[in-house]
Amino acid sequence: MNERTILVTGGAGYIGSHACVELLASGYQVVVIDNLCNSKVETLHRVERITGKSLQFYEADIRDKKALAEIFTQESITAVMHFAGLKAVGESCEQPLNYYHNNVYGTLVLAEAMSEANVKQLVFSSSATVYGESASVQYSEDFPLGPINPYGRTKFMVEEILRDLSAADTIIGAQSPWKIALLRYFNPIGAHESGLIGEDPNGIPNNLMPYVSQVAIGKLAQLSVFGDDYPTRDGTGIRDYIHVVDLVKGHVKALEALQSEKFKSGGCKAYNLGAGRGYSVLDIIKTFETVTGRTVNYKIAPRRAGDLAEYFANPELAYKELGWKAEKRLDDMIADTWNWQCKNPEGYA
Ligand code: NAD
Ligand code: UD1
Repeated sequence: MNERTILVTGGAGYIGSHACVELLASGYQVVVIDNLCNSKVETLHRVERITGKSLQFYEADIRDKKALAEIFTQESITAVMHFAGLKAVGESCEQPLNYYHNNVYGTLVLAEAMSEANVKQLVFSSSATVYGESASVQYSEDFPLGPINPYGRTKFMVEEILRDLSAADTIIGAQSPWKIALLRYFNPIGAHESGLIGEDPNGIPNNLMPYVSQVAIGKLAQLSVFGDDYPTRDGTGIRDYIHVVDLVKGHVKALEALQSEKFKSGGCKAYNLGAGRGYSVLDIIKTFETVTGRTVNYKIAPRRAGDLAEYFANPELAYKELGWKAEKRLDDMIADTWNWQCKNPEGYA
């Protein structure tokens, strides 16, 4: 392995697998740790097929300190992209301890193992869900934080822990300080253009885009549009959808920034990764129908608890400091989702 070897936690998952493709394509070596609790090893074979390159896979849990220490001994890791975690909001309300254990304790163990191996560059998967309800619908990084469910709180707590870790290095004047990017994703959708990797939700999807595409292909009967009485232009919820390939390009840009002059003295900084514009649920349905030629059967249903009417990213900081902005349009996101859905009607199974 050369000196540009990245440990990708959760690399077999939806976003992690796309990050592996982007890293390999950018000339990095990739080592993956994943316990496969929400993914399959087949994903990694497909990453290798897409890139024509191989990666190193460890089937292990990030909470297993010994397994992590072993990886840091075996491989010359220079930085970590940390995707491993649980992500279902509803489930986090039913199983808070499981979420805190996996997402918060898991990150503590990872950060300890990194410290011990003196690997102190970290790109962390945070979420727009860390923001509190705010007067403006366009969120900037300096807006107050205040997540409203256990999943969101795990992301918020990890952000706080990582900020403390970085601040401690300033206090003690560490020789090689922590360099950390907290990437706050808005709504990632889409798939790699090959149709070989994509989102493979377990059971009935919670999120809009996989639900829509499973209705369009006939696996699910009807989409429920959660509320048409929001104070938005058509009454349905507005979100900032971002193509997963744009999202992972943002990770590589963040990694480059951590290695640059900008982070020479260390630091921990949050960046929004969003496209900076919002689409309503009805916009998504209409565009889906236009792009795919399929009809999306839907009905208007009551609002879903915990949903906000509208929010989207102010992505300026990522553009200014990382040189990144989302390139792909909604049509691309939907065409790639559909390509993945048609080629893999049963996901990776
Ligand atoms: P995913 O479930 O597809 O991927 C997560 C991967 O982590 C899976 O492969 C899973 O098996 C693995 N994993 C989970 N716990 C683990 C553990 N303890 N040890 C080792 N591996 C473990 O999810 P995703 O959509 O790819 O999300 C990746 C990250 O991005 C998550 O941290 C998620 O919270 C965050 N995020 C996702 C979204 C989204 O919309 N998908 C939005 C904001 C933030
Ligand atoms: C949800 C999570 C968020 C997480 C994100 C990505 C909640 C409250 N928030 O965001 O923490 O980071 O997923 O995983 O769960 N919709 C329908 N019908 C459906 C599904 C969704 O109308 O069957 C609507 C929603 O009301 C919303 C929009 O579609 O207006 C997007 O929903 P979704 O894809 O679930 O994402 P978020 O709710 O934005």
